[in-house]
Amino acid sequence: MDRLMAKVVCRNLYKRYGDQLAVDNVNLEVGEGEFLVIVGPSGCGKTTTLRMIAGLESISSGEVLIADQVVNNVEPRHRDIAMVFQNYALYPHKKVYDNIAYPLQLRRVPKAEIRERVLDTSRLLGIEPLLERRIRQLSGGERQRVALGRAIIRQPRLFLMDEPLSNLDAQLRIQMRREIIHLQRQLAITTVYVTHDQVEAMTMGDRIVVMRGGLVQQIGEPMTIYNHPANRFVARFIGSPPMNLFDGMLENRGGRLVVRTAFAEYLLPADVQARLTGVHLAGGATPVVCGVRAEDLTIDLTDNPAGNYPQGVVDLVEPLGSDVFVSVKFGAEMLLARAAPELPVREMQKVHLKPNLAKMHFFDPKTEQNLTWK
Ligand SMILES: Nc1ncnc2c1ncn2[C@@H]1O[C@H](COP(=O)(O)OP(=O)(O)OP(=O)(O)O)[C@@H](O)[C@H]1O
Ligand SMILES: [Mg+2]
Repeated sequence: MDRLMAKVVCRNLYKRYGDQLAVDNVNLEVGEGEFLVIVGPSGCGKTTTLRMIAGLESISSGEVLIADQVVNNVEPRHRDIAMVFQNYALYPHKKVYDNIAYPLQLRRVPKAEIRERVLDTSRLLGIEPLLERRIRQLSGGERQRVALGRAIIRQPRLFLMDEPLSNLDAQLRIQMRREIIHLQRQLAITTVYVTHDQVEAMTMGDRIVVMRGGLVQQIGEPMTIYNHPANRFVARFIGSPPMNLFDGMLENRGGRLVVRTAFAEYLLPADVQARLTGVHLAGGATPVVCGVRAEDLTIDLTDNPAGNYPQGVVDLVEPLGSDVFVSVKFGAEMLLARAAPELPVREMQKVHLKPNLAKMHFFDPKTEQNLTWK
């Protein structure tokens, strides 16, 4: 199976449209057999990056390497890649069989071999009973499987997918997401997958590339990015609900760091303080943006809990079944906490909110960089 795996490298990759930079110095590496997800909001340059890897878009400057070979001037059809797009691009009037067989028919593979490979591929995807149907007689999920079948039948050395699930309903998306993960693991084809959906990125990627405005914000394994977001944007973009952010001041009080906000004061544990090497306490205090995830906030319903935790008013209770989201208001500030569904909390109730200080993040208000994990 070695043949199937190819490493991909993007080196100082730029794409300019007039004076707009759609892709701004992207550097990334996809390992052999790796599943890499590029994620980011609309217009951040995901598709453009993918299309430059595919050879469907010219490169303004920089290099794309596939299996250690610079392919900038290699035609798409000679790059040995397969692509799946959002709109599948299937032939609606043709049979499923012929849609899947098409890439092999183009290459004049003998008929008997085509038949064998179409059957193998359709078995793998569970669409063997559909081979004689026409595309227009299929559901969205079935079409999606046919598009995947057409892409993998050639056994390309690189698989590129651009939002392949976005046409499907929520339930089918989850199912197809799992099927793609299994398929990719089974075939071990190096894959670059583009999505704006952070849940897809988290669940599918061996590693994730977060982009914004043409720039790579962070590259890493899903849980690394979740636990150690490089900056404020990544902290809000990865994870649902987004991380709570609020202004604070870090103050040095006799060698101990205290974070003071509009509604509370927290003495930072020594190990957290030791990590904050990027903070310079000019004049004894420095402004920061504090971040804490909903699951790192504990709601305390007792009247006088130990510790000096602020009391707020419950603004909204949103039960999800498995857990409940509770919005708590502290003056002008609103924090969202995740709690167990059985917590007897009601709107308008006064509660104390206890952050896990070991998991609190501090961002530089100007550069937006995370100061916590330097
Ligand atoms: N042919 C083009 N001419 C001019 N500008 C373009 C062209 N194609 C894309 N752009 C611009 O380049 C930027 C990146 O576009 P791209 O399609 O890569 O975004 P994307 O991350 O895939 O977004 P989406 O999630 O909406 O698909 C956008 O600002 C877009 O308007
Ligand atoms: Mg796109």
